Amino acid sequence: MDIQDIPLEECIEDRNIKGNIGVSVKNLSFAYDRDNIFNNINFEIKPGEFVGIMGKSGIGKTTLIRLLMNFITPSTGSINYYDNHGNEMQLSGTVREYISYVPQGNTLFSGTIRKNILIGKEDATDEEIWDALDKAVCKDFVELLPEGLDTVIGEKGMGLSEGQAQRLGLARALIRKSDFIILDEATSALDESTEGLLLEHLSDMTPRPTCILITHRKSVLNYCNREFVLEGGNLNVRSIGQV
Ligand SMILES: Nc1ncnc2c1ncn2[C@@H]1O[C@H](COP(=O)(O)OP(=O)(O)OP(=O)(O)O)[C@@H](O)[C@H]1O
Ligand SMILES: [Mg+2]
Repeated sequence: MDIQDIPLEECIEDRNIKGNIGVSVKNLSFAYDRDNIFNNINFEIKPGEFVGIMGKSGIGKTTLIRLLMNFITPSTGSINYYDNHGNEMQLSGTVREYISYVPQGNTLFSGTIRKNILIGKEDATDEEIWDALDKAVCKDFVELLPEGLDTVIGEKGMGLSEGQAQRLGLARALIRKSDFIILDEATSALDESTEGLLLEHLSDMTPRPTCILITHRKSVLNYCNREFVLEGGNLNVRSIGQV
């Protein structure tokens, strides 16, 4: 009943941005209650850029993603998406059609592996599913399961290891082939070499998607063009390499 009582969110019908997407954030402030999580922060993420976001637990990394995806509204400031053709899109729920988001924590459902992956793209063929599993570095372990894609898993991926569940969650996002990918500590349970392989797959995708990688691990920054560090309501930018 609570869910039914939530008013329908406004979405902009104009889907005018195409291909690689960037985002420009100006004078953004936000507070849940009294204390500001962000004090007037400014940044831009260019189309095709990989940005690593770091900062202490509870500093506001996930909150920043909620703002970028319009799940919550800034107290002040603007968030605008744009493409390489000079088109812009105002922030609304529509923006989520352009973004693949892997949230923090395990978000698998009970059912077969196939059903879980199809949540990302309802009409995907088995070939597309295997391609997404390959990109998410989980093809090998699914192939070894006697029931393969028809293997039934429990709620939150019960029956799988944490890292296997995490990779299936990534495959479910990658099957959408979005131009903007957000991973919120989505590789935290993987060993460094598996994580590296997955990030290599992401940066080899054509066209190269724009990526936000929230992480506590320095090794992820090897795949990023810039590092954003959140601290005390501010965002500090460090350049790592060219896009
Ligand atoms: N829905 C909410 N209502 C009120 N306060 C919240 C809400 N969600 C988060 N917070 C608070 O906002 C702050 C930032 O939380 P956030 O989840 O963005 O942190 P984080 O940087 O992602 O941390 P972690 O690394 O642990 O995931 C925290 O102090 C948290 O308690
Ligand atoms: Mg978080």
